[in-house]
Amino acid sequence: MNDIVKIAFGPIAAPRGGTLVVFVGADLRSGERTRALLAEFGPRIESAAKTAGFRGKALTALDILEPSGLEAARLLVVGVAPGKDGKPLDFAVLGGFVSGKLGKSKATAAVFESPAEPWDAGAAAEFALGVRLRAYRFEKYKTKKNESEANGDEAPLDVVVGVEDPTAARAAYVMREAAAEGVELARDLVNEPPNVLFPESFAERAGALRSLGVEVEILDEKAMTKLGMGALLGVGQGSARESRLVAMRWRGSKAKKSKPVAFVGKGVCFDSGGISIKPAAGMEDMKGDMGGAACVVGLMHALARRKAKVNAVGVIGLVENMPDAGAYRPGDILTSMSGQTIEVINTDAEGRLVLADALCYVKQTDSPRFIVDLATLTGAIIVALGHENAGMFANDDELAARLTSSGLATGEAVWRMPLGPAYDKLIDSKFADMKNTGGRNGGAVTAAQFLKRFVDDTPWAHLDVAGVAMGSPASEINTSWGSGWGVRLLDRLVADYYED
Ligand code: BES
Ligand code: MN
Ligand code: ZN
Repeated sequence: MNDIVKIAFGPIAAPRGGTLVVFVGADLRSGERTRALLAEFGPRIESAAKTAGFRGKALTALDILEPSGLEAARLLVVGVAPGKDGKPLDFAVLGGFVSGKLGKSKATAAVFESPAEPWDAGAAAEFALGVRLRAYRFEKYKTKKNESEANGDEAPLDVVVGVEDPTAARAAYVMREAAAEGVELARDLVNEPPNVLFPESFAERAGALRSLGVEVEILDEKAMTKLGMGALLGVGQGSARESRLVAMRWRGSKAKKSKPVAFVGKGVCFDSGGISIKPAAGMEDMKGDMGGAACVVGLMHALARRKAKVNAVGVIGLVENMPDAGAYRPGDILTSMSGQTIEVINTDAEGRLVLADALCYVKQTDSPRFIVDLATLTGAIIVALGHENAGMFANDDELAARLTSSGLATGEAVWRMPLGPAYDKLIDSKFADMKNTGGRNGGAVTAAQFLKRFVDDTPWAHLDVAGVAMGSPASEINTSWGSGWGVRLLDRLVADYYED
């Protein structure tokens, strides 16, 4: 449970004071029980709607204070009429919208009744998930309270979702709650400043998953040196902070020995660019260069919390990319765990070096069914896709299709990008097996080609999340800088295709 929002399910009932939320369609009609609850006030909605120009369109609302004859202090009439695009209502988005309208209203009863086709328990659970995700705040470093807090009336948003069958809705919500916690955990990690969240402290936070039954193995620099992880260690060698690699294993399948699904995350806790240093403007955003790793931790939390019937392993490579006398240089040649050598052209192309060893590690130690990696890997993917889609690169059509479909289902969309030998050639090196950049053109593709050299035949997909993990425009379900992008997508992927 978080302390910003309290969500419960109950029978359809009017609140004493507080806010009443009801849903209406295009004709401003509501469901039968809602009509009964509104009683005499019902018809007055129509004239209020006329005045306000409210027509019941999805994601618009009519806000009425002190509705006469009702016990509620506020009546929020929310439209759910489908738009012209014919897209079905996304209940998480609807929940986020309502949550945003409620603001800091405390006691709220939402009458979750459809004006038309009935809504099921899954819809109610998605709605509640949206309410919760929208309410997320990261304010632990703000010492000055805002006015309402100073007045002592900072209570959590308290929503009772009124449904036909509260037990069924509650049961459906258990799964969403696990995902919500995972998303919140990922957001927290991305939002944390880099002086607080560095490789060792990040690894410790991942260690907290042990309390959920996840096996957590933390490799220090000595252990990684033994394994020959020269690429990952090369990136970290200019930092005063030690590097770490964390493997989180959840064994939820009845077939204890069945091959796990694997998730790998880029965890560059701060990316200064190293010797190829970045410009000053916006460099603070590079605290979020561990968004891929944050997603993997959030996902493992979600899977364990809902006791997913799957064997899953999450591996995160944690480093800080800094320039100092000990830092790796352009021109250096690193030997990766796979044995392949890499000429460093630009120390700011560090994420692929970290992933090279993390991918090789998980392949060798866990022989997974597939690997999905997530990385805030390139600025080029933001140029190509903006903040609406993550870039997806894959060597396996089935895995790619499944990711696309889970992406559409959760609203965390991915767009497939090309791979091919002509791109691969661009990272051949004069002096080593490969170089770490392929020039400006097709930068996101050559980065993906680089990773591909470390996965061989294992079915694999790479998600370049530079445009979606942080700093994307606010949405109905996220107003936080760190978005927690990918947790719901991958939780859904596992639930739909890979559980017992
Ligand atoms: N972490 C960055 C990519 C990035 C940029 C993430 C903006 C989020 C927002 C990555 O390590 C990087 O610096 N990539 C370089 C690669 C180049 C040197 C080949 C880039 O994209 O410019
Ligand atoms: Mn970089
Ligand atoms: Zn980076």
